[in-house]
Amino acid sequence: LNFHANKERRYILEILFNGLRRLEYRGYDSAGIAIDDSSTISSPPLVFRQAGNIESLVNSVNEEITNTDLNLDEVFYFHAGIAHTRWATHGEPAPRNSHPQSSGPGDDFLVVHNGVITNYEVLKETLVRHGFTFDSDTDTEVIPKLAKFVFDKANEEGEQTVQFCEVVFQVMRHLEGAYALIFKSWHYPNELIACKLGSPLLLGVKELDQGKSNSHVFQDAHFLSKNDHPKEFFLSSDPHALVEHTKKVLVIEDGEVVHLKDGGVTILKSENERGRRNGISRIASVERALSVLEMEVEQINKGKYDHYMQKEIHEQPESLTTTMRGRLIRGGSRKTKTVLLGGLKDHLKTIRRSRRIVFIGCGTSYNAALASRPILEELSGIPVSMEIASDLWDRQGPIYREDTAVFVSQSGETADTLLALDYARENGALCVGITNTVGSSIARKTHCGVHINAGAEIGVASTKAYTSQIVVMVMLALAIGSDTISSQKRREAIIDGLLDLPYKVKEVLKLDEEMKDLAQLLIDEQSLLVFGRGYNYATALEGALKVKEVALMHSEGILAGEMKHGPLALVDENLPIAVIATRDAASVSSSGSCRAIEVPQVEDCLQPVLNIVPLQLLAYHLTVLRGHNVDQPRNLAKSVTTQ
Ligand code: G6P
Repeated sequence: LNFHANKERRYILEILFNGLRRLEYRGYDSAGIAIDDSSTISSPPLVFRQAGNIESLVNSVNEEITNTDLNLDEVFYFHAGIAHTRWATHGEPAPRNSHPQSSGPGDDFLVVHNGVITNYEVLKETLVRHGFTFDSDTDTEVIPKLAKFVFDKANEEGEQTVQFCEVVFQVMRHLEGAYALIFKSWHYPNELIACKLGSPLLLGVKELDQGKSNSHVFQDAHFLSKNDHPKEFFLSSDPHALVEHTKKVLVIEDGEVVHLKDGGVTILKSENERGRRNGISRIASVERALSVLEMEVEQINKGKYDHYMQKEIHEQPESLTTTMRGRLIRGGSRKTKTVLLGGLKDHLKTIRRSRRIVFIGCGTSYNAALASRPILEELSGIPVSMEIASDLWDRQGPIYREDTAVFVSQSGETADTLLALDYARENGALCVGITNTVGSSIARKTHCGVHINAGAEIGVASTKAYTSQIVVMVMLALAIGSDTISSQKRREAIIDGLLDLPYKVKEVLKLDEEMKDLAQLLIDEQSLLVFGRGYNYATALEGALKVKEVALMHSEGILAGEMKHGPLALVDENLPIAVIATRDAASVSSSGSCRAIEVPQVEDCLQPVLNIVPLQLLAYHLTVLRGHNVDQPRNLAKSVTTQ
């Protein structure tokens, strides 16, 4: 947060805390904040760091305020504050490992970081040789220390104080890995510097004096730095923290540096590779257009629901409708029903010529791809193989120029999927992205793609994104197969089925109470096996994944065709099993208690969209009844941005 306007310290803290609350779904093991100590003199900032969730940080700050008589009414005309919620990769959740990480005593430089620095050990060794001592187990700590090192060295050598952005450019040159970083330093009061490589970073712009600004275009590099209207600037790795303040954002590109000063901004880039080799780099300002966030504040609130997961399960009729909006049309000379996927239209011919389609994803996204594999094979006639992203990377499995590699990811930021994407690109495959996040790394690094438009998904366990992903991949199959006359009838039947699907999902959601009863029966069980085959193999895997990830109950999804080859040995009169058998009878049946749960019958390839819903409800109720955290399950994060 950086601004120029008269605002009290109370306001600053609340904005930063609220930002963290919005991001808590991404990391919830520790948090920290740094704000200015004084509105008049440049002095080391106030830094608070705490293990646990955001509310523990808020409580400890409140306690500190009471103990130290910190004045919440103190008014700041300029202010630069940073905050961070962490999901530990290097080092246990503890105050010393929380961000902001510091350059050392005096907190000359403070840094918050999203991502991972892969060469931190080498950097740490060098810094230790130069007399730095390290307090944390994080990879991040090398960054503020490197900044201090660069700053001290430049000031020893130069006559003038080195510029803040120059320090950061020099730091960036040493960093390897993925990062979105924000730097704060009391040597540069009212300034923040942010930069990124690989990890996402957004700049939100809010004109405090609304009305006077109607321009969405960042035409003049100095437009946003002019101090003629009071402005607030927000930097975040995620739009959820911005949308309640502003919808005007700038998506920061790799290598760019954002310089916020006194509520104005300049975007800088180090230019001229040749110059760099000669040791001279030219820093130039960049002009870019502001984008408008397509997200409503209501989307990121729980509304009438107790949990995000519950809300997201129940909003599937709407999210599926949005996924399909404008994509199922009557077209061609005979005005037949057809699919239009704008992001793919220039690449369909290449995809049809592929020798193989490879689906690549992790977790729920992988399961959604698996659910769509049969229809894609049927309508395209192209072999479809499945790859869990980390496994493809571990094996360095063969990927060819003639392949179409489809990357499925809700967040668009999963590190394993991104690595696999870089690998597939290097091997010359056509890369297609299927994500829920406009502007995400996967959306930007793929050659083409489709957004699932399911709206913000905040519950760590993916629900509505899963069903929207399946629908997008069914539409992908329809689009690829749309030049085959023999499958015309089948395709039209699927399109009719798609149009009807939101209504059918609504019917299935009426099973809520019944699934709650069933959850009550299962509450003390140790394990649940879920069997399915064909289209429902994916349903079995995904249903079991939901149960294990949120209800913290052992659960396995098993291909029913393999039942006799091992898993049957586990089955006795005590073990609860669920069998998804909808091919003929259209029923999800569970044995043990011998209950039959009926769902409507739809086109076979759409059946997985309906069949997962009772299992989502079951997992949800089981979690609540067993007393576990629904939206933030133990040990799991929404976006796994490190390997
Ligand atoms: C994490 C989440 C899962 C998700 C998976 C893939 O494990 O907890 O819910 O399915 O990552 O995430 P993506 O954003 O790539 O779909």
